[in-house]
Amino acid sequence: MKAAYWALIAAAAMPTIASAHQAGDFIFRAGTATVRPTGGSDNVLGMGSFNIDNNTELGLTFGYMVTDNIGVELLGASPFKHNVGLNPTGNIASVKQLPPSLMAQYYFGDRQDKLRPYLGLGVNYTMFFDEKFNQTGRDAGLTDLSVKNSWGVATQAGLDYNLDDNWLINMSVWWMDIDTKVKFKAAGEQQSIDTRIDPFVFMFAVGYRF
Ligand code: NI
Repeated sequence: MKAAYWALIAAAAMPTIASAHQAGDFIFRAGTATVRPTGGSDNVLGMGSFNIDNNTELGLTFGYMVTDNIGVELLGASPFKHNVGLNPTGNIASVKQLPPSLMAQYYFGDRQDKLRPYLGLGVNYTMFFDEKFNQTGRDAGLTDLSVKNSWGVATQAGLDYNLDDNWLINMSVWWMDIDTKVKFKAAGEQQSIDTRIDPFVFMFAVGYRF
């Protein structure tokens, strides 16, 4: 009787340990993803490097915890649209892209921690589509735009803050090595421009773990 009483007191006094980010958990995150290109390109027709603008879309990640500290994650998004320009002309084209990435991740800390920072390393495949010159580009005699898909390394640093057993808020930043070849014709003459996009991707998300 007395032992049971003390066991009850002890149980009531124990901090509630919310188990979070443990082996076998799925983690789904959704939020904004902003792609900010950092690269440039070879000289384009003597007018310098391509400028590629930022774009923000819906970002989604699907993760699985293999152990309490090791996870795998797939990044998805709604298609990003970027304007492409040259300093003397302004925008001449636009292109859409999807950058799915598969990451291996290490989560610091323990399963009951509210804060779980993590680092990831993986591979990115970027598909370019819907590439086209705008009126300015067409007026300059540019045609037949195509942008080659890219494979490259992706790295990631992130932070999950666990609100309860299921919900979390998340911030992460990615860097992706995205290099491509931009092909087009200028007055009928074939051009091929090596282009480095190498973007940072900033993501702010809400997550659900189950
Ligand atoms: Ni690169």
